Amino acid sequence: MTKLYIKPIFPMTEKDFLPNPYQEFPDKGGVSWKAPSNIALVKYWGKKPVQIPANPSISFTLDNCATTTSLSFAKKEKSDSISFDLMFEGRPKDDFKPKIQTFLERVERYVPFLKAYHFTIETSNSFPHSSGIASSASGMAALSLCLMDVEKQLDPDLDETLFYQKASYLARLGSGSACRSIKGHLVQWGQHANIPNSSDLYGLEYPFEVHADFKGYCDTILLVHKGQKQVSSTVGHQLMHGHPYAANRFQQAFDHLDQLKPILKNGDLEDFIKLVESEALTLHAMMMTSMPCFMLMKPDTLEIIQKIWQYREETKTPVCFTLDAGANVHLLYPSSEKDKVCAFIEDELAQHCENGQYIHDYVGAGAVKING
Ligand code: DP6
Repeated sequence: MTKLYIKPIFPMTEKDFLPNPYQEFPDKGGVSWKAPSNIALVKYWGKKPVQIPANPSISFTLDNCATTTSLSFAKKEKSDSISFDLMFEGRPKDDFKPKIQTFLERVERYVPFLKAYHFTIETSNSFPHSSGIASSASGMAALSLCLMDVEKQLDPDLDETLFYQKASYLARLGSGSACRSIKGHLVQWGQHANIPNSSDLYGLEYPFEVHADFKGYCDTILLVHKGQKQVSSTVGHQLMHGHPYAANRFQQAFDHLDQLKPILKNGDLEDFIKLVESEALTLHAMMMTSMPCFMLMKPDTLEIIQKIWQYREETKTPVCFTLDAGANVHLLYPSSEKDKVCAFIEDELAQHCENGQYIHDYVGAGAVKING
């Protein structure tokens, strides 16, 4: 039999993600994947339709903070619409359904088996739902991997590289940062002239040399505020349209990716810290200077930042912070500093966390299939 699929030449285009004709159609089945969360060092903030980033970004893939999703499917009589049930942590969760429905409609062109089956999606997070940690990245990544796993059953010749790239491509259509939650360690997303094969369409395992110090890097997430965010990321991204500082900000992200290359190669922690903290504060500066403006940091976020700066000054420990689109603080440090930093967290920082809660995490190897 002739194989239709020819290994693509980078970078891939949207057409490359359309499937080959399916060879088989099992009546039913089930797949499960666990995908981690990620924390951006250079932030994605601003996008164009559909889910194209205004600037390139790069993140550490995490390990402990993850979503596990099981997708079971059964052939149905009429294949004219998308249909699914959604369970979150063992219970039906109808308020998550519209987001998943939009996602499935958006990706249907690329995974056209969707209408042939009725799906049951069961999903759970390793972190508490109310922790303020965004689960959309890990959630969309896990669901996209499940969809690709079904596609692999329909097209057993599907190449492994394409499997993961397409999973990242689909995940991006669910939530931009989700495309960086498939592969491990450091993942870069967004076209950049000096990063070969970089693409706006999917995340790429960082292609340059990375110093051993960054391999097991730690990220302790200090849970400052666990409630609902006052402004969603989606709204925040939109506010970059017509933002007075947008052009400079986007250029800065391109420049930061260039600057990171020697820093990551040489393990230059001093410059790493400067760049990462500047990215975090610039992200929040963009929020504070958009129209309408908003602020997601809380007084405890600022207290923590001050204490980190003071501790670093006094002890010369290479610990720094980054922020998501929220009040929580991600404390980043090499694993060799773990004991010292854990004592610092307990003594000084935990008191600024809601109910004293924080989560230890570290750089991980990416999503994994769960065998049922
Ligand atoms: C601040 O990926 O959550 O975490 O594409 O609208 O789903 P949507 O946005 P999302 O934005 C993440 C923004 C960020 C920075 C980052 O992760 O790069």
